[in-house]
Amino acid sequence: MVDSSDKLFQHRLEQAEIAVSRGEAQRGTRWYPGWHIAARSGWINDPNGLCFYGGRYHVFFQHHPYSPEWGPMHWGHVSSTDLVRWRREPIALAPSLEEDRDGVFSGSAMEAPDGTLAVYYTGHRWRNGRNEDDGNLQVQCRAVSRDGIHFVKKGIVVAALDGVRHSRDPKVWRAHDGVYWMVLGVCSRQNRGEVWLYRSHDAVAWDYHSVLYQDPDPDAFMLECPDAFPVGDGLWAIVYCPMGPKPVGWRNRNGHNAGYVLGTWREGEVFQQVTDYAPVDWGHEFYAPQSFLAPDGRRLLFGWMGSFGAPLPCAQEGWSGQLTAPREVRLRYDGTRPRLELVPAAEVTRLAEGAGAPEVWEGELSANTVRRIAADFPQGEILLEWDPAATQSERLSVRLRSPEDGSTVVVAWDDLAGRIVVDRGAAGQGPRGVRGAPVNRDGLGGTGLGAMHLRLLVDRGSVEVFSNAADPVSSYWFAGLGDRTVELLSENGSTGVRVTLQPFRDAWEQ
Ligand code: FRU
Repeated sequence: MVDSSDKLFQHRLEQAEIAVSRGEAQRGTRWYPGWHIAARSGWINDPNGLCFYGGRYHVFFQHHPYSPEWGPMHWGHVSSTDLVRWRREPIALAPSLEEDRDGVFSGSAMEAPDGTLAVYYTGHRWRNGRNEDDGNLQVQCRAVSRDGIHFVKKGIVVAALDGVRHSRDPKVWRAHDGVYWMVLGVCSRQNRGEVWLYRSHDAVAWDYHSVLYQDPDPDAFMLECPDAFPVGDGLWAIVYCPMGPKPVGWRNRNGHNAGYVLGTWREGEVFQQVTDYAPVDWGHEFYAPQSFLAPDGRRLLFGWMGSFGAPLPCAQEGWSGQLTAPREVRLRYDGTRPRLELVPAAEVTRLAEGAGAPEVWEGELSANTVRRIAADFPQGEILLEWDPAATQSERLSVRLRSPEDGSTVVVAWDDLAGRIVVDRGAAGQGPRGVRGAPVNRDGLGGTGLGAMHLRLLVDRGSVEVFSNAADPVSSYWFAGLGDRTVELLSENGSTGVRVTLQPFRDAWEQ
C-alpha cells in the first residue's frame, strides 16, 4: 500500500530526476571527469552507502540535483560490477519526511538480516528552518531496499540527542558474532569532537553503547563522517573529519581535512589509541572518506574531492564535486610505527583497456631543461620512476600545462621540502597554494630506476598523486582551454627517469 508520505517521497524523487536531466543537457565538458564518479549535474559531496550488494558495487553520494551549490541533500547513486565501468542509477533518497525535512545527510549501508539492503542516514533539520544559527535537529534514520535501487523509508532509529548541536553520519557494520555496530560523529555537550558507539541485535533497534573516541585536540568540536574498521594485527583505524583544528605547517590547510588514528580495540571494549592523528591524504581537496569491504575481503575507500568554501570553477559548467578513484587501504609499518597505506584499487588499471597503448620514455633529464613528453593528455595514468640516491636534483616535476594560457600545475618530488607536492601557484583557475605529503625514504627498497615512483591518476579536472614513499595528494587541476601538455623538469641536477603514459577510457555505461 502506498501511503501519503511515500507518495511525497516518490514525487520528490521525480522532481529531482527532472532537474538533474535538465542540468545534464546544459553541462559543460571542459573539466567534467571522464572516469571519476560525479553527478550527471549539480552538486555532490560525501560518498555514502558504499557496499557490494546483489552482485554490484553501489556508490551513493550527497547530492543537490537542483544547482551546483550545496542545498537540501539527496542521495545520488551509481553502480558497477567492476569498480571502473559505472551505471547511472536513479536518485535514491530525497527529503520527504518531517525528520529529514532539510536534508538526507550522510550515512552508510549494509545487508540486513533479512537479505535486504539497509541504509542509515542522518535526517537533518535546521531548528529555525533556515540555517544553523539556532542549532540543528539531527536524527538517524533507516531506509530499506530489495533491489539496491528503490528504497522505502522506515523512519528514525536514533532520536535527537538532548543538548547536542551536531550528531550525524552513521557508519554501520556487522560484527562476526551477529551484533551490529554504528559509529556516529558528535559534538559533545562540552563542545568536544567525539565518536559515539551504538549497538543493535537486529539492525533495527539501536542502543547507545559508549564514547568510542574523543579527539584530544580541544579545537576539534565535531568529528564528521566517522568510520571504524579493523586493519590487522589487532589494530583498528578510526577515520574522521575534525571540524575546528587550526592550520599547523602543512596540516589542516584546507577548509575541511580528513585523518585517522590507529589503536587497539575489541568490539565493545575501550579503544586504546596507538598513533597520533595523521592525514589520510594531503591534497587540496580530499574529504569525508568512507570505506567498505569488497567481496574478496579488501578494504576499499572513496573520498570526496570538493570544497564547501568558494565555488570551484567547475560550478560554471553546471556541476561541482567528484569522488576520488577507489583506493585500497592496508596496514604498513615505518619501523615499528603502524600507519595506513592507500593505493589505487587494482581495478583502476583496467581503465587502460581499449584506451590505446602506453607510451614509455626513458632517459636522462638534463638539469633545468623542460622536456615535453605528451602534447595532449586529458585523462590517464602517468608513472614516473627514478632513483633518488642517483641524482642531485632539488626538484623533479611532472608539469601539467595548458599552452594556450601558460597555466601550469606542478606535481613534484621536492627534495628540499622532503615532500611530494602539488603546487597550484601557477594554476589559471580556482584556488592556488601548495600541498604535500612527507617523503619517507626509509621504506624504499633497492636502487635503480624503480626505487622511487610517482603515480599520477589524471582526469579532466583533477590529479591524484600516489608514491611508494609518501601518502596520497589529491587536488583539482582546472586546465586552460585547448591541449593539456605534460612536461618533465629536473631542477639544478640531472636525473635518469622512466616515464610511462597510459591513457584511460571513460567510465560511463551509456
Ligand atoms: C560532511 C558533511 C556531513 C553531512 C553532510 C551534509 O561533508 O557535512 O557531516 O552529513 O556533509 O551534506
